[in-house]
Amino acid sequence: MPERIFIGVAWPYANGPLHMGHIAGCYLAADIFARYHRMKGNDVLMVSGSDAHGTPITIRADQEGVAPQAVLERYHAQFLDTWRRLGISFDLFTDTHTDNHRRIVQDFFTTLKDKDYIYPDTMLLAYCAGCNRFLPDRYVEGTCPHCRNEGARGDQCDACGRTLDPIELLNPYCSICRATPDFRESEHYFLRLSAFQQPLLDWIESKEHWRPNVANQTSSFLRGGLKDRAITRDLTWGVPLPPDGPDAVRFQGKRIYVWFEAVIGYFSAAVEWAQRSGNADAWQDYWQDGDTRSYYFIGKDNIPFHSIIWPAMLMGYGGLNLPYDVPANEFLSLESRKFSTSQNWALWVPDYLDNYDPDPLRYMLSINMPETGDTDFSWAEFVRRNNDELVATWGNLVNRVLRFTYRNFDGQIPVDALPPEDAETALLSAARRGMDAVADSLEHTRFRAGISQAFGLAQETNRYLDSRAPWQAIKTDRAHAARSLGTAIQVLNCLKVMLSPYLPFTGQKVHDFLGLDGDVTAEPWDFDALIASIRPGAPLRNPSNLYTKLDVAAAEQEAGRPGVPA
Ligand code: MF3
Ligand code: ZN
Repeated sequence: MPERIFIGVAWPYANGPLHMGHIAGCYLAADIFARYHRMKGNDVLMVSGSDAHGTPITIRADQEGVAPQAVLERYHAQFLDTWRRLGISFDLFTDTHTDNHRRIVQDFFTTLKDKDYIYPDTMLLAYCAGCNRFLPDRYVEGTCPHCRNEGARGDQCDACGRTLDPIELLNPYCSICRATPDFRESEHYFLRLSAFQQPLLDWIESKEHWRPNVANQTSSFLRGGLKDRAITRDLTWGVPLPPDGPDAVRFQGKRIYVWFEAVIGYFSAAVEWAQRSGNADAWQDYWQDGDTRSYYFIGKDNIPFHSIIWPAMLMGYGGLNLPYDVPANEFLSLESRKFSTSQNWALWVPDYLDNYDPDPLRYMLSINMPETGDTDFSWAEFVRRNNDELVATWGNLVNRVLRFTYRNFDGQIPVDALPPEDAETALLSAARRGMDAVADSLEHTRFRAGISQAFGLAQETNRYLDSRAPWQAIKTDRAHAARSLGTAIQVLNCLKVMLSPYLPFTGQKVHDFLGLDGDVTAEPWDFDALIASIRPGAPLRNPSNLYTKLDVAAAEQEAGRPGVPA
């Protein structure tokens, strides 16, 4: 029975290009996971989109003197291009500024309000007399009351990961003019999070499979006690309140808070996907069938929104699946320093893709994924891993087997091979076990382990070839060479599948070289089927190199490029 898997991936703010930290944080993991499950024959829906609202967009628009809409359109188009070039295989990547999203957010709002999970109240909000306006959370900075980090923002502290209210900040100041804001009353809607304290505690009991960082952050957040939160803001860019509500006029100058509506995007995107697919009810399988498992791939700075607030909203709304897992990654640093857009310390993905192939980056960020702790990206390490691992282990294996076979066996999979001996049986059973082991790792979102296991099999295949030495054997005993090359080709066919979730572009190439047709993504994750599809006498295609060696000197230059200071 195929399983059904819903994959939601964090919605990037459409306020600037994507950098390596974003990719390592969630997009690559989600894509590997989706590709694996599709090859397993499971039914996958992977969605996300541009986070169109909120102050990150308006700050950028203000800086450039353009409308927020223009910023959104520019980066949304760029994101779509990046996904295509990097092979991030969304079923739908939309944005939160669509009519569909607005309608669904307003329905969530109305439903939760009718159930008394949303209520109006007044609150004290930061008002800057210097700027003559209420300040959005992000425009207030100060010291975190929990960890004393001095650079905390009004919405959250990046040092300890806690979400904040601006009024909790010690020594708050306006990030625009540095004046100390005063707090004035303003009327807003609140989400009754406190009502979900116990239901959430009960719910997370069943989440023993969560990663330790996610489980720990979630339970410490819950232990602190849930407070109701304002879910509207004094802004004009964002999703308006339901137009027919009794407060529509009073709330005209207010918008639904970006975090409240962005997470609803996971649901609205599935509805949009269903509409586009021609079966408007198709979202129901992913959201209402209790057997479907929902995974949310996010960075660690987004954990409470996905493990507490979104589940609470779903519990309140009713009838929709809660998250099954929230496999949040930690952070990636660049040359040992934190990525910083404002300090231009970042490696932008579009720039990378202008100069290099996607799979070496996917390899580097997979083997080095910040799964259970922070990791670092450095050019020297990138070049080393490319040359010593990707080229030396996998690229060379494909190259030497297929090139030699193509030249010496008339471009065909060898025929008339000697019968298998222990060495062949051992290698093939290692391949069978390897496929199961990689599958098990991927199912448990252990991406580093999965790619190491696949590379372990590639190494074992290299050792097998070294001992069988078909390049020697062929001089005296063609059937002997036919046996080892034929066996290695069978294993290559398995490795192609095991590595395709990680390295989809070169996985496709190997598939083509093997003389097989169609798309590698349609290949089955099934050892016996893969062995059977390698038929002696079938034509191969003339192989070319999968990867190129990179030059350390070029990498050093790279580190000195604008955007990547040396
Ligand atoms: N745009 C937010 C960020 O980049 C993430 C939002 S995830 C969402 O931090 F689901 F809430 F949209
Ligand atoms: Zn100010």
